[in-house]
Amino acid sequence: MKYKSLGNTGLYVSELTLGTMTFNNEVGSFLGMIGATGQELATKMVNLSIDAGINIFDTANVYSSGISEMMLGKALGNKRKDVLIATKVYSTMSPGPNDLGTSRLAIMREVEGSLKRLGTDYIDLYQVHQFDTTTPLEETLKALDDLVRQGKVRYIGLSNFSAWQIAKADGMAKLLNTEKFCSVQAYYSLVGRELEREIIPASLDLGLGTLIYSPLAGGFLSGKYNREGEGSGRREKFKFPPVEEEQGFNVVDKLMEIADSKNASVAQISLAWLLHKQGVTSVIIGARKEEQLIDNLSAADIELSDEEIKQLDEVSAIKPEYPQYFPSMVRGESLLSRFQSEE
Ligand SMILES: NC(=O)c1ccc[n+]([C@@H]2O[C@H](COP(=O)([O-])OP(=O)(O)OC[C@H]3O[C@@H](n4cnc5c(N)ncnc54)[C@H](OP(=O)(O)O)[C@@H]3O)[C@@H](O)[C@H]2O)c1
Repeated sequence: MKYKSLGNTGLYVSELTLGTMTFNNEVGSFLGMIGATGQELATKMVNLSIDAGINIFDTANVYSSGISEMMLGKALGNKRKDVLIATKVYSTMSPGPNDLGTSRLAIMREVEGSLKRLGTDYIDLYQVHQFDTTTPLEETLKALDDLVRQGKVRYIGLSNFSAWQIAKADGMAKLLNTEKFCSVQAYYSLVGRELEREIIPASLDLGLGTLIYSPLAGGFLSGKYNREGEGSGRREKFKFPPVEEEQGFNVVDKLMEIADSKNASVAQISLAWLLHKQGVTSVIIGARKEEQLIDNLSAADIELSDEEIKQLDEVSAIKPEYPQYFPSMVRGESLLSRFQSEE
């Protein structure tokens, strides 16, 4: 397992993070579709991850209404001090007018709930789950800054922001002299490369780390689904993230070919492609079963050749969009080439 600094911080994170969205014991609920691993399996998964070198675990206040945080805290037990916990704030499950978003009130209340459920007195990475369009960003930043000064939170990150929102938050924190967001958590996969247009270039330019979620597009990139509509798992009922299937199955065909030649699984090649990508700090793996986790953990050992990466890049290419294509059309400069020498 490799470790990378999280953006411009002194914090080192493993290149795989364990996602705990499947930690849930409510089979019938919405999140029951994502997973109902139960405490015993959750504890096993956490221990397997630590044994493999993972040092960071991702959850959210809203995952199964706090159950994921509770199960993660319990699974970690006294190993908590040796690892990093990343959780999120924005959504709650209550219907009140102040129960959503990142107002000072919501943040101050939600952090206490997360600390209690996790059984810890600090959160390593506290992430804003999505941009709050009604609360002034200044209010959110000042509240998060207070949490860092109080020692309840060590670093702050954001998730699901667009590039202009990331840049605005970064600039505003500098102006206010408050704690800056150090990481971006966002969706990126071989069937979802939109991040490459604006968010990866913005993160590289601003020195933010990236935590990549849904790297298998909810299981699609494990190769267990086919064009005939066969294959079982969460995508049968919950098609998140959305996949454009015609191109998606061409990607899976290429993945199968490479996986066969390397005696690896399709999921491992999908994850390894992300681990080879510029600007990726850590890939958040998800699993509903122990064997899936074991499969995914081995992705860290897979080396892809330049030719294999090129083939996967080509079959998964996204349509060039203005203004990103302008420099390459005029000067032959690729989207990320100016950062190549800096990594
Ligand atoms: N910030 C956000 O808004 C956000 C959003 C989503 C996720 N996340 C984070 O990212 C983590 C991972 O997201 P994700 O669960 O969507 O990841 P994913 O890797 O795209 O999907 C994981 C699912 O794919 C299937 N799977 C995983 N490994 C497999 C394998 N080797 N073979 C076959 N099937 C396999 C399992 O579901 P089935 O067995 O049911 O098919 C598993 O639950 C979450 O736990 C959470 O921490 C964050």
